[in-house]
Amino acid sequence: MKYSEIKRNKEIDELIIRADYNLGAIGYTDHSQIHAGLVAERAAYILETFGYDKKQTELVRIAGYMHDIGNAINRNHHAELGAILANDILKKTDMSITDRLLIVSAIGHHDESTGGATDVISAALIIADKTDVRRDRVREKPKASFDVHDRVNFAVTNSKLKINSEKREISLRLTVDEKICSMYEYFDIFLGRMVMCRKASEILGAAFKLIVNGNKVL
Ligand SMILES: [Fe+2]
Ligand SMILES: [Fe+2]
Repeated sequence: MKYSEIKRNKEIDELIIRADYNLGAIGYTDHSQIHAGLVAERAAYILETFGYDKKQTELVRIAGYMHDIGNAINRNHHAELGAILANDILKKTDMSITDRLLIVSAIGHHDESTGGATDVISAALIIADKTDVRRDRVREKPKASFDVHDRVNFAVTNSKLKINSEKREISLRLTVDEKICSMYEYFDIFLGRMVMCRKASEILGAAFKLIVNGNKVL
């Protein structure tokens, strides 16, 4: 089973559409194929840069693309639900049991409420997912109806993830418009996720740095 086939799979496509629809209805930011594809490519880029082989980058791409499908059932426990859904889908393919379990375990551990990195695949997935902070994840709606999640994402006018394989450093550099959200609000929403990224980076033998408006904060 290749990543290109995963992207063309009708059931996965429908699951992402339903998941994104549900999250839109309860006020969450973009979780469409755009988020899925971005997380897939970013997670693969992280492993590639740190010298992991093609097999692992392909597995993390697949896990990245499918990581949020559990939201088609419920936001709560979406990581675990998504892992079960992914297991059912991948079981019908030619993928080995070992590879399938690497993917479902990464999906099942990606949310900060119940998860955490357990191996390099889940570590790269977590870092790719939690660093997808950008203005265009906020859905079209009147600014007056923005909640704190919308404001925090909208306030991020620039976001760059840099991987330095020699220094073994992963850094997320954000430009946050403090007129839109205060630093307090930003950290209230993101600190837990950034701490999760730091622990995931340790599994990759790397340090995680967060730089907001030019100041190193983590
Ligand atoms: Fe998620
Ligand atoms: Fe996600």
